[in-house]
Amino acid sequence: MAYSDKVIDHYEHPRNVGRLDDKSENVGTGMVGAPACGDVMRLQIQVDENGVIEDAKFKTYGCGSAIASSSLLTEWVKGKTLDEAEQIKNTAIAEELALPPVKIHCSVLAEDAIKAAVRNIREKRGQVADAGDAKEEAAG
Ligand code: FES
Repeated sequence: MAYSDKVIDHYEHPRNVGRLDDKSENVGTGMVGAPACGDVMRLQIQVDENGVIEDAKFKTYGCGSAIASSSLLTEWVKGKTLDEAEQIKNTAIAEELALPPVKIHCSVLAEDAIKAAVRNIREKRGQVADAGDAKEEAAG
């Protein structure tokens, strides 16, 4: 299988590997796994009071394409709002990295991870009504 130069570059020099303080009010953590292969990815974002992502870090216990996908994603999300970050599609990652078909799920993992991180920070900030609350509100 031939990997693109971009995959190899991110794999050999991953950006933003590390950990942010999960206990911080300003840090959202997404921890997700890929059913297809069992690989796991943790992606964290640090968000300012305006909902703009100031920093992002990841750790991937996964394949090279998962490392490249999350490395690229951490670069993309910095400076974006939560809404913008949530819109990032795995297809954009796969396209940028020219991932081969069997490695598309690795980019899905990255999309799932950023969505989970955004959800986590929103929950911390009380911006997400959970399903139970929503039902109660609907019921009146
Ligand atoms: Fe599963 Fe890449 S092979 S994340």
